[in-house]
Parts: sequence; C-alpha cells; structure tokens
Amino acid sequence: MRGSVTVAATTPYEVRVEPALDLNSAVSSAQPPGTAVLLTDSDVGPLHAPAVTEALERAGWTVADIITVPAGEASKSLSVYEGVVRRLAAAGLPRGGTLFALGGGVVGDLGGFVASSYMRGIDFVQLPTSLLAMVDSSVGGKVGLDLPEGKNLVGAFLQPRLVAANLDWLETLPPREVSHGLAEVLKMGLLAGGEFFEDLGGLAAARAGDEEALQSLILHSVRYKAAVVAEDERESGLRAVLNYGHTIGHGLEAAAAYDLPHGEAVAAGMLAAARLSREKFGADLLELHEDLLRAAGLPLKVPAVDVETVLEAMSRDKKRRNSDRAGEYRFVLLGDVGHPERDVPVGVAEARRAIGAVLGP
Ligand SMILES: NC(=O)c1ccc[n+]([C@@H]2O[C@H](COP(=O)([O-])OP(=O)(O)OC[C@H]3O[C@@H](n4cnc5c(N)ncnc54)[C@H](O)[C@@H]3O)[C@@H](O)[C@H]2O)c1
Ligand SMILES: [Zn+2]
Repeated sequence: MRGSVTVAATTPYEVRVEPALDLNSAVSSAQPPGTAVLLTDSDVGPLHAPAVTEALERAGWTVADIITVPAGEASKSLSVYEGVVRRLAAAGLPRGGTLFALGGGVVGDLGGFVASSYMRGIDFVQLPTSLLAMVDSSVGGKVGLDLPEGKNLVGAFLQPRLVAANLDWLETLPPREVSHGLAEVLKMGLLAGGEFFEDLGGLAAARAGDEEALQSLILHSVRYKAAVVAEDERESGLRAVLNYGHTIGHGLEAAAAYDLPHGEAVAAGMLAAARLSREKFGADLLELHEDLLRAAGLPLKVPAVDVETVLEAMSRDKKRRNSDRAGEYRFVLLGDVGHPERDVPVGVAEARRAIGAVLGP
C-alpha cells in the first residue's frame, strides 16, 4: 500500500505513510547518504531505533550517534536541547550532516529545533512514530521548545527533507495515544468536509489498528494540513482554522495545570465549539461530534476545573491579538461540516456556558 503526499514548500518534500515502509528506499530517494545522527526517546528508542539504524546503514549512511532523550514533554527544554547539540558537536556531525528524529511530537519538535540551529541549520528527516506526529506535528514546519513560562515559546520554521512514517510503528503506541492523535484527525475531517469527512467512518477501525483505515485518515490529514499551511506559511490567518477546538482546549489544559492530555482537552474543546456553532449558526453538529469522539475513544467531558481559570487562560493565550476587545474571544466555529468560520466573536458569558457543558462531575 504505497501512500505519499508531496508537500509544496520552498523545497518540496514527500510524506510517506505505509505499512512495512521500506525506509532504505524512502530515504535513498530523498537524500544522498552521508553522516547521520538519530534522535529518539526512551520509549521509542528500545522498540524501533535498531531497525531504523540498520535500514540507514544499509542505505549507505554512517550513523555517528544515537541520542536518546527521556520520553515526555519535559524533553522539549533548553537543558535537553543543550545536551543534544553538544552531543552532535562531540560526534563531529558536519554542516552537511542529517538529523533523523524518530519519535512522537516531542522528539520531532526538539529535533527540528536542533536541526534548525546546529551550525545554523542542517538537514532534517522526520520519522514520526505517534499518530499525532504523523498527522499533525510533522507537517507545517513548526519546531521548538517549551520554557518554564509557557509551551512552544522558543522555536523556528524548518521544513524537513522527508517525512517517513511506518504504520507498523503504531502497533506499539499505547491505545490512549492513538485516541489523542485521532482527536486531531477528526478535527481536520470536520474542517475539510468532502471525502475526508466521509472517511471518518473509518475512525473506529483506525482506532482498532486497521492499517488501511489508518493510512487513509493519515494521508487525508497530511494533505489537508499541508494545503492550509501552504496558503499561510507564516500564520497570517488562514492557518487559524487548525485551532478548531483549541481555544477552549488550551484553556482547559492550562486550568488543569497540564495534567490533562492535549487530545482530551481538544475533544472537549470541539464539543464546546459545536455548542457555540449551534448558537451562532444554527448548525446542529453536536450529536455528530459526540459520535465521532466516541468512535475515536475520546471522552465527552473532562474532569471539572474552575471555569474562571479556563477563561483567564484563554485571555492570556498567545494567539490572541492585541486588537481583540476585552470581554470577547475569537473562535473558529463550524457553519457546517467543511465550512469553518474564523474570528467569530464570542462573549464571556457564552464561552462560560459552553465550557460548563463539557466539565465532568
Ligand atoms: N510542530 C507542530 O506543528 C506541532 C503540532 C502539534 C503538536 N506538537 C507537539 O507535539 C507534542 C506531542 O506529540 P505526541 O503526542 O506525539 O507526544 P510524545 O512525543 O510525548 O509521544 C507520546 C508518548 O508516546 C510514546 N511513543 C511515541 N510513539 C510510540 C510508538 N510507536 N510506540 C510506543 N510509544 C510511542 C512517546 O515516547 C511518548 O511517551 C507536543 O509537544 C506538542 O506541542 C507540535
Ligand atoms: Zn492540537
């Protein structure tokens, strides 16, 4: 089952998504062999790094080092970044070298930032192993780190030479992480409409590990995100549609002190947005949202947090613009499936009600 999308960036690159992906041939068609360093994390490395290293060596690469960072968001930090770039220097990775990031969004974001800055920029290949990384974080060129002051506050734009995802890697991904990736998939399916939306019928199969359903949904997602990003590479506005469910989602995450998985916060955020969409546009998509979330194994409510804290966090969100009026939020809502509306003004009282409806007992 060959599957690929060509992303139209300044230097176009391919996203390959296949079961039993032949990494040797995928890499060879994108990049002449040279010196590589493989970056991975402590969960993914033991499972998949040996086969990847072997494939790279078979393709003629010299793997100068394999760097394993602790699994988890905490590795998107300045101190882990320092450790990684110093390892690259110690391994003697040259300016013409290539960094391969094997892992989820954390390894991809960290690795991309390393590649964008080590020797003012080296080549970068993403080998996404989580569903979220395959459908979301490895597309769009955003890479970066967190600071104690906030998430993703340090970063860069960097397009990879290649994104190669082996669907077999998902067999070891914990089921909960599969659902978290599906939250972004169903978000994009609702925004895109058309055949992508129809194929959301395969959510339950994808969740159960059906590789054909997974491949189809991942390719739809990559194509959709790449198309949105291509029209808005530097985030002037259009890309904001990808924030569907994220305005309240981010607020919920912050109010829960980040003790709430992003995918679950976004799931609740989308349900709240569906409620607001009904109020603003009469679009009755609430049941549809509930059915899709259930099929993806996502909760319809999040554990109760203080609503006022959610609202405060939403006001502080870095994506708010200075011109926004106090006491008003800007939402991406759905006029209908496939018809996102950006910049819809939502008052505090309306937002408070929509949030209240997705808070658990
Ligand atoms: N750059 C972007 O545009 C963008 C977009 C969305 C999210 N992100 C970032 O992505 C990160 C979240 O990504 P994530 O959800 O992949 O988190 P993650 O990288 O922490 O992966 C989740 C967990 O699954 C494990 N894992 C990954 N693949 C596995 C596999 N095949 N088998 C077994 N375990 C596996 C990881 O080791 C980790 O423990 C966040 O930091 C977020 O900010 C970036
Ligand atoms: Zn998200």
